[in-house]
Amino acid sequence: MYQYSQADHQLLQERVAQFRDQVQRRLNGDLSEDEFKQQRLRNGLYLQIHAYMLRVAVPYGLMSSEQMRTLAHIARKYDRGYGHFSTRQNIQYNWPKLEDVPQILDDLAKVEMHAIQTSGNCIRNTTSDPLAGVARDEIADPRPYCELIRQWSTFHPEFNFLPRKFKIAVSGAINDRAAVAVHDIGLRLVKNDAGELGLEVYVGGGLGRTPMIGKLIRKFLPTHDMLTYLEAILRVYNQLGRRDNLYKARIKILVHETGEEKFRELVEAEWNEIKKTGLALTDADIEAIQAHFKDPDYETLSDFDEDFDAHLLANAEFAKWAEKNVELHKKDGYRVVYLSLKSRNQPAGDVTADQMDAIADLADKYSLSAIRSTHRQNLVLSDVKLKDLYELWQELKALDLATPNYNHLTDLISCPGMDYCSLATARSIPIAQALTERFDSYDYINDLGDISLNISGCINACGHHHVANIGILGVNKKGVEVYQLTLGGSARDDASIGKIIGPAFTADEIVDAVATVLDVYLDQREDEEEGFLTTYRRIGQEPFKEKLYG
Ligand code: HEM
Ligand code: SF4
Repeated sequence: MYQYSQADHQLLQERVAQFRDQVQRRLNGDLSEDEFKQQRLRNGLYLQIHAYMLRVAVPYGLMSSEQMRTLAHIARKYDRGYGHFSTRQNIQYNWPKLEDVPQILDDLAKVEMHAIQTSGNCIRNTTSDPLAGVARDEIADPRPYCELIRQWSTFHPEFNFLPRKFKIAVSGAINDRAAVAVHDIGLRLVKNDAGELGLEVYVGGGLGRTPMIGKLIRKFLPTHDMLTYLEAILRVYNQLGRRDNLYKARIKILVHETGEEKFRELVEAEWNEIKKTGLALTDADIEAIQAHFKDPDYETLSDFDEDFDAHLLANAEFAKWAEKNVELHKKDGYRVVYLSLKSRNQPAGDVTADQMDAIADLADKYSLSAIRSTHRQNLVLSDVKLKDLYELWQELKALDLATPNYNHLTDLISCPGMDYCSLATARSIPIAQALTERFDSYDYINDLGDISLNISGCINACGHHHVANIGILGVNKKGVEVYQLTLGGSARDDASIGKIIGPAFTADEIVDAVATVLDVYLDQREDEEEGFLTTYRRIGQEPFKEKLYG
């Protein structure tokens, strides 16, 4: 894990002192809320329906157990005893008091965390694969590249006030687990025919009211050129991105309006000017960062454990969990464990302070003191020994973190919606909970297999409904909250935007509507192997429409 340098520490301390002063001036009334806005947005602080909301950056979703304990402490001391993990791997607090925020940032700084660049029109926290460094299908570890991007983008003077926010994701594996296709820039580490490592560069993906899949503008960029190329893209965007219309300000609109070919030419021309500058990465630059992400001292273990197998046979509940929430690790005898934040007792992505403390203890005991957050709002213990799985499962079950549903129907993504968010047009948490209760049967969701169900409380699409196999969008129609269904979206390698199926449903109808969609799938699939998306793409919308609207 990256360890802060003295300069990093100083940077944070200075920032905390500066914000403490700004908050004091707001509290004194020297600054109006409007004047304060730009300052708070540079420190992750939003103003929501009931209170401020603080978004804390979790760089590429990686946390130490010590950091997790600080997050628990903040939830307990300054908030209402819980936090919410977002799809961009960050954590949000919904109830901080303005006067406490400088101290929260001070507490975070002590464990090398902050809330910088988690809001506002800047380059946001870079996201990545939650299995980085341990995945069996990995081409190269993306974390050093994320860290290089973090260092380059933090307080980059030229990109402090972009036309709009800017999100970057990096994936280093064959299977995309970081949704790179729906980011402003998505980077995928690949090897060329000569076996050299480089990057595929996708630009102009995004969700919101105009969802778009990113365009591949460079098939192979040597890793040494990563920062100069990013700088070139950001320069073109900063100069030409639309500042006249908030809804057209994201880079996806610029790429779309300029045309892919012309946009590529503009970037390449800019890049030619700067590619030989000091921003070009040397081997030494890359190796210095890679040194922070070396493999830990894994033990040499067998990939077979007699006790584990015996527990699988003796305990059906454990076997279900092991099948759904445990994944292979690149090292024999180790496994990756998903901690489901999608039990029926808590809103999706929420985690209590007590759970956070307990997770930190479990990470110390079983998984080299590290925890990761995922794009689908779950947590991961990445280095658990096969022989410890049964014991770990018992502890997770007691904490309500062992719902066996990873990548299944009830592992749904949901934004906070009208319960917290000032932009919401409908509630999403109660709908998510109604769905989780309705589809609580393990056998049923197991039969459905790998499927995604996402919910957003307004067209901004924080809940990624556009790229779910089944998406739900809450809208307000003449004062009534109604829910539109979209089908056929995907955030993976075969990324696609879902299509609206027809007129919206009321809050009372939407759960039945989802059940109907699932019935059609189960009825029409060729066999149990054919997943929802494949069936949908084969049969199209008609059979679903017919059953839903008669
Ligand atoms: C509660 C306060 C929040 C506010 C005010 C807010 C605001 C917004 C807005 C305005 C957009 C649309 C941006 C655009 O199209 O240009 C957006 C997009 C997005 N937000 Fe949020 N959001 C909030 C919470 C969240 C949460 C909790 C998550 C994760 C669960 C999240 C993740 C995202 C993602 C992934 C997108 C779409 C990707 C993109 O195109 O940028 N946001 N948000
Ligand atoms: S999708 Fe809308 S309601 Fe949900 S968090 Fe984003 S802005 Fe708020």
